[in-house]
Amino acid sequence: MEIEGSVALVSGGNRGIGEAFVRALVAAGARRVHVGTRKPEAAAHLVAEAPDRIVAVQLDVTDAASIERAARDCPDVSILVNNAGQYHGQTLLRAPDLSCARNEMETNYFGPLAMSRAFAPVLARAPASAIVNVLSAGGLVAVPVMGGYSPSKFAARAMSTCLRAELAPQGTAVIALFVGSVDTRMAAHVKGSKEAPATIAAAGLAAIRRDAAEVDTDPMAVEVRAATVREPEALARRFARQLTATDISTGR
Ligand SMILES: NC(=O)c1ccc[n+]([C@@H]2O[C@H](COP(=O)([O-])OP(=O)(O)OC[C@H]3O[C@@H](n4cnc5c(N)ncnc54)[C@H](OP(=O)(O)O)[C@@H]3O)[C@@H](O)[C@H]2O)c1
Repeated sequence: MEIEGSVALVSGGNRGIGEAFVRALVAAGARRVHVGTRKPEAAAHLVAEAPDRIVAVQLDVTDAASIERAARDCPDVSILVNNAGQYHGQTLLRAPDLSCARNEMETNYFGPLAMSRAFAPVLARAPASAIVNVLSAGGLVAVPVMGGYSPSKFAARAMSTCLRAELAPQGTAVIALFVGSVDTRMAAHVKGSKEAPATIAAAGLAAIRRDAAEVDTDPMAVEVRAATVREPEALARRFARQLTATDISTGR
């Protein structure tokens, strides 16, 4: 699929990886890019960069009415980037209750599912269309210190596979991006090297162009996927050891 001339919507497009997607789509010639954002004023800086091509759209991916309104107001979208995400840094047992795990599942799994259901008829109207789901290396291997987040990304991977089969007859590609560590607010607590958000967006656009199904966007994601095949038990032990290094009082 060509990016040039397309109309895109990026959920959580106001900052981080989503913001990089918005800029990359505009640079690649998208006719219009809708920035899906809980607070439209948070996307004002992007709209100012290209007022004729970047449009802020109020969107909360956990709110059915907000999703329905976005699908109605953006009737010519051909590329949907399900990027909005939540990470609470809790473990399954140390978390005080289920609220964080539920919010991660609502945002990272039910959010993209609800968006895909709402936009499937919209995407069907375009001659070529794609859904890009921004997932995580934590969706390739279960990471105990990401107790609620990792299962939500596993679920979103399975959802991507199911939707790919369901949407193939209407010509909508479904692409799952597996992302390592990226320099955004979500990963502010992570030490060590982090990818630039623009690198992930570039990998996403390349995946759209070549109609890829699953793509590891960076060396960390590639290494994690390789280790799940090459040394799965050692990998699981390595991630389990992170638990003992975690501050029990905060879960981080
Ligand atoms: N950073 C990493 O290392 C990393 C690694 C792997 C995967 N990812 C994935 O990449 C995606 C983007 O994350 P990021 O790193 O760019 O994080 P970020 O900087 O924290 O941005 C998250 C974005 O999601 C939005 N959002 C959260 N809940 C939402 C909701 N209910 N409805 C609509 N928008 C919502 C946020 O909006 P507000 O501004 O309103 O809060 C923000 O725009 C996520 O799916 C994340 O899981 C990130």
